[in-house]
Amino acid sequence: MNFPMLSQFNPETGEVEGTAPKIRFLDNLKGYFLDQAAYQKALQTGNPPVYSVTSVEPAQGDGQLHYGLGRLMPGKIGREYYFTAGHLHAFRPAAEFYIGLTGEGLMLLQHEITGETLVFPLRANLVVYVPGYTAHRTVNCGTTPLSYLGVYPAQAGHDYGMIAEKNFNKVVLEINGQPVVMDRQEALKLN
Ligand SMILES: [Fe+2]
Repeated sequence: MNFPMLSQFNPETGEVEGTAPKIRFLDNLKGYFLDQAAYQKALQTGNPPVYSVTSVEPAQGDGQLHYGLGRLMPGKIGREYYFTAGHLHAFRPAAEFYIGLTGEGLMLLQHEITGETLVFPLRANLVVYVPGYTAHRTVNCGTTPLSYLGVYPAQAGHDYGMIAEKNFNKVVLEINGQPVVMDRQEALKLN
């Protein structure tokens, strides 16, 4: 084999040996959060890193596999927990496994066509199957970093367009100290 078959990752730091992480800062998430005023206010006090993804893509071609190590910081904008931007796969039929490593979070899964949304917990010892044609986002509902692996077909690719334009139908808010999943339209009435 002419590609690396062994890699070492650290779920505590989000690092994979020999691979540079992509870091997304708060100002990379403009327009995504429910409470725009709270978002602007937060940016005035700093531009913290919200999440990192380190992608390991050793081999290309049909049948090959890639993985990404995600690490999402704890935090909120208004009542809304920090989340990843979320994406569809450019090759829509491509599915993915998310494997929880550290922290406490949720995954939002939203079918591209029907809009049907499913919510699953994500933490150590849980594996979430993300079907094809399904946008996916992680949400950190805890007080420590949420880290996980996503394992996906090499041909999957990433498409951020639909979510950047329409966002997810559901939001996850802290209400009375607990994470609550709500319809975006309902949640807008809270602000
Ligand atoms: Fe994905």
